[in-house]
Amino acid sequence: MLLFPAILSTVIVVSSTSVYWDGRVPQTMTEWDVDSSIGPYLTVVKGSEAASHYTTLLGTSSTPTPLWNTLISEQVISLTIDNSSIFVPGGSTPQNGFRRTDIIAQGNGSNSALDAIMEIGVSKFYFSVKDNEQLPLNYSHEYQIVFIEPSDGTHVFELQLGTPFSNPTAPTPAVDATFLKVRDHALNLMFETPFTSGQWHNFAVQIDWNNLTLQVFYSADDADLVAVTPVTSNPTASPGPAGQGDFHAALLKLPLVDPSESSAEQNDVVHYGIQEGTTEGLFFSGFFVQDISA
Ligand SMILES: *[C@@H]1O[C@H](CO)[C@@H](O)[C@H](O)[C@H]1NC(C)=O
Ligand SMILES: *[C@@H]1O[C@H](CO)[C@@H](O)[C@H](O)[C@H]1NC(C)=O
Ligand SMILES: *[C@@H]1O[C@H](CO)[C@@H](O)[C@H](O)[C@H]1NC(C)=O
Ligand SMILES: *[C@@H]1O[C@H](CO)[C@@H](O)[C@H](O)[C@H]1NC(C)=O
Repeated sequence: MLLFPAILSTVIVVSSTSVYWDGRVPQTMTEWDVDSSIGPYLTVVKGSEAASHYTTLLGTSSTPTPLWNTLISEQVISLTIDNSSIFVPGGSTPQNGFRRTDIIAQGNGSNSALDAIMEIGVSKFYFSVKDNEQLPLNYSHEYQIVFIEPSDGTHVFELQLGTPFSNPTAPTPAVDATFLKVRDHALNLMFETPFTSGQWHNFAVQIDWNNLTLQVFYSADDADLVAVTPVTSNPTASPGPAGQGDFHAALLKLPLVDPSESSAEQNDVVHYGIQEGTTEGLFFSGFFVQDISA
């Protein structure tokens, strides 16, 4: 692996043997790999353009989270959306309500096989995010940016930004719209922190898949991760395989309700609603999953 044992003993130890899946993109990974879904991520959830139109690897031109970059050389991942970012699930109805670019953890070319390997016992999901000052978000909208999604479409936990989608649309953006928010399966707020610009915001969420609990860890830039919640029950999540799901990094922008649409359409967040079609972006690094039970 790419970790150097001599350095490991002096810093927070995340040993290579306990890493189930490593999404820290090596310098050797290319645009061609992104377009071909080769490497740690499946890149099919996107709009009509090639995957590398929306998912860009920044090489050595951009510095990833300083938490791991003395141990491992990784490329920053830039995710963007524009008005073409309408995902059409295989043979299904275009998701006109959303604009989205998702990259999904995979192993040996399979995302679902990985779920059964890394979502057992106790495992810890690490991820870091930074704003893209050139391509700002619109905080009147809700954004879902990191989540584990079982096949029922719920989220074991999620990292969210913006104003939560509501019908009818709230008259003003939420007071904490610009905060990074970690929510549990029932969408209860577990932790929030201001999404300050130009900084890496580091998270880890430790999940006990048997006891159905979550614990959130956080730090900014090069500070060590610290627990910011106790071990907290996540009782609405499903036990066993039904509760396992794909690990997504995403720029998923929900619509605002369009008052001119029918009430059925207004309730169909996936397919209807208002999107401005703006080009927006976020930066990601430091994605990996650690086995805690070992
Ligand atoms: C990938 O293949 C290796 C070697 O067969 C295996 O050990 C590993 O568990 C596989 N990973 C996934 C996610 O299937
Ligand atoms: C943000 O979204 C709101 C609601 O659709 C819209 O009125 C506003 O113009 C948007 N801002 C930008 C910068 O696109
Ligand atoms: C899980 O729950 C069982 C039964 O309540 C308890 O004995 C065990 O210590 C718990 N495990 C963890 C990791 O909290
Ligand atoms: C965005 O795309 C939608 C769906 O294709 C289209 O109806 C809309 O006019 C586009 N908006 C802009 C600003 O280009």
